Amino acid sequence: MSICILAIESSCDETSASICVDGKILSNNIANQTVHEQFGGVVPELASRAHMQNIVPVVDIALQKAGCDITAVDAIAFTQAPGLIGSLLVGTQFAKSLALALDKPLIAVHHMQAHVLANLIPDNRPSFPFLCLTVSGGHTQIVRCDGPAQLKVIGETIDDAAGEAFDKTAKMLGLPYPGGPLIDKHAALGDATRFKFPEPQIPGLNFSFSGLKTSILYFLKNAGTSNLFKEEFLADEETRQKFITENMNDICASVQDRIISILLNKLKKAAAETGITHICLAGGVSANSGLRKAFAALGEKENWKTFIPAFEYCTDNAAMIAITGYYKFLEKDFTELSVSPSARSEW
Ligand code: KG4
Ligand code: ZN
Repeated sequence: MSICILAIESSCDETSASICVDGKILSNNIANQTVHEQFGGVVPELASRAHMQNIVPVVDIALQKAGCDITAVDAIAFTQAPGLIGSLLVGTQFAKSLALALDKPLIAVHHMQAHVLANLIPDNRPSFPFLCLTVSGGHTQIVRCDGPAQLKVIGETIDDAAGEAFDKTAKMLGLPYPGGPLIDKHAALGDATRFKFPEPQIPGLNFSFSGLKTSILYFLKNAGTSNLFKEEFLADEETRQKFITENMNDICASVQDRIISILLNKLKKAAAETGITHICLAGGVSANSGLRKAFAALGEKENWKTFIPAFEYCTDNAAMIAITGYYKFLEKDFTELSVSPSARSEW
């Protein structure tokens, strides 16, 4: 008998539904919310309202694309945590109602665990144990994965996430939200050796990006004068703007290069400490072309087998919830209908 999972993801600003049969993804339908662009970041209430509008058509289209009737669904999986609480409430309530109406089990999925398990979607997948560097707008983690239900965070950011470092840099450069993809584009045309940003000295496998953010702020305020990283603010506004416009590609390339070296140095350390050689990337920032290239090059040098999910499974999506739900179904790891979502990240 085959197992059909309907999964729903609504933790932030993407409404998504996916159908997975026996561990194969048949559809992964994602509605992006463009309403936030004008505000330079996700506005929680607008996100909840957009989820309310999107969720029924998004689920309908996921079923249609998979050629699947709702009555064939064996369980409903949904993102229970972490995320924006108003956004999570919409997906959770919808999933609960559907499970009740269809009289099928409900499966609660942790969004960050699902980002890691997105690596189990393709046929070419890592074997256990593997390490995963999960880099998204809200999280930066190194996770050790000994099985679909055995995941442990062994390193994480103590302040900003890598995606935030990209997005906040973009904002300082006057680029629209989300700035990560734009920095990537500019960086591809720039000289990464032109400006040197400091690397934080954080013990163990943890990350920090707030010092980098401050150094970029001062660097831009001083418009590349000799007092690069000091709070002196020698340049006037016109000079600063001119400096940014004329050096956009090199600034983006240099910042991106530093973010990548912070990430990969810790990943290298984690691999050396654990002796694990199957290494994965996950999360929205793994779409970054510089990171992908540097990750592959490091993997070759260190003799790792490296894995990166397809782009649509890196950014927020319900297919990763579906694959996690599938493994939970095999373990009969079901959830009570009284479950409520949590904004917090504890595993
Ligand atoms: O995983 P994700 O889709 O959502 C969260 O759960 O946060 O990640 C979104 C983050 C944003 O910070 C966005 O700027 C970043 O991923 N991002 C990128 C690129 N594409 C998306 N950052 C750098 N380069 C990219 N190409
Ligand atoms: Zn995410």
